[in-house]
Amino acid sequence: MCETLGQTFSERLGYRVMRVVDLDRDMSDVIPTGLTPDSEFLFDRMTQLTLDRTFGASRGGVRPRVLDVASGVGQDSIALAERGADVIGVEPSSRMTGMATLFAADKPGPMPHFVRGWSDRLPFPDGSFDAAFCKGAMDHFDTPERAIEEMARVTRSGGRVVLAIANFESLACRVGRALDDFRQDWLRRAPLRSRRGYDAPSDHFTRYEPDLIREQAEKSLQVEHFEGVSLGWGMPGWSKWTARLPVRIARQAVVGLDRVGRQWPGLSDVIVLSGTPRRSESTSA
Ligand SMILES: C[S@@+](CC[C@H](N)C(=O)[O-])C[C@H]1O[C@@H](n2cnc3c(N)ncnc32)[C@H](O)[C@@H]1O
Repeated sequence: MCETLGQTFSERLGYRVMRVVDLDRDMSDVIPTGLTPDSEFLFDRMTQLTLDRTFGASRGGVRPRVLDVASGVGQDSIALAERGADVIGVEPSSRMTGMATLFAADKPGPMPHFVRGWSDRLPFPDGSFDAAFCKGAMDHFDTPERAIEEMARVTRSGGRVVLAIANFESLACRVGRALDDFRQDWLRRAPLRSRRGYDAPSDHFTRYEPDLIREQAEKSLQVEHFEGVSLGWGMPGWSKWTARLPVRIARQAVVGLDRVGRQWPGLSDVIVLSGTPRRSESTSA
């Protein structure tokens, strides 16, 4: 079911801007099934780095208070709660918050709370968290800069905001696009795949690349870390190759490429950026 929510009216421009989001979305189209070694490595390392950077904001001995923005089905919130954080997941989809609450109910120990809400108007007071993170979701937001500003607002001074986002100018995207251009322009043949990995999917508002995420983040954050994760994911044929190689060799290959991606984050498949909130005069916490 699709609903139109939170309409904003731009009188100056003279048109209506509407936010249309599927509030029953359940991610069955996003979470990959039957992972190949390269995908498994990418998702795992992106998650671990994001959670490590987030948990790193804890003050010795005290359970850190953490906000997971666009928490989806809650797997990252749950993982941080298992590490000992007090976590709140905020997410507009009722189906996803419902699934997250069900998944958490099966686990022992203190579990996250999941609440419904939008990233551009987080329902929390200034400075109420030690850290806020958003993984793989900012390209779905209609006002991502506002979301970063909000994450900075609800995070305490000296706390940490962590953003993990796919890079659509990665080496793999550039090579895929160059090959398709060559096939189309010189060989007069169709692209290698119908779904071109270097084009942002239809449910993305923003096509992120390193300069853009840094530029948006720097308005609200003092950037501390700008890190690359994995290299070559989505390169034509690469997934099939890693699936055919012996497991140990495939692992060595993706780990080796990841090291290169760490050296050159601009070419990597995913960017993980973290920083401390810049405080504006209107924010006291
Ligand atoms: C690809 S999922 C990522 C979920 C989760 N962070 C993860 O890593 O599995 C994108 C999420 O963004 C949520 N979303 C879309 N627009 C949003 C907005 N304006 N504010 C907050 N969440 C939003 C969607 O409901 C969805 O759960």
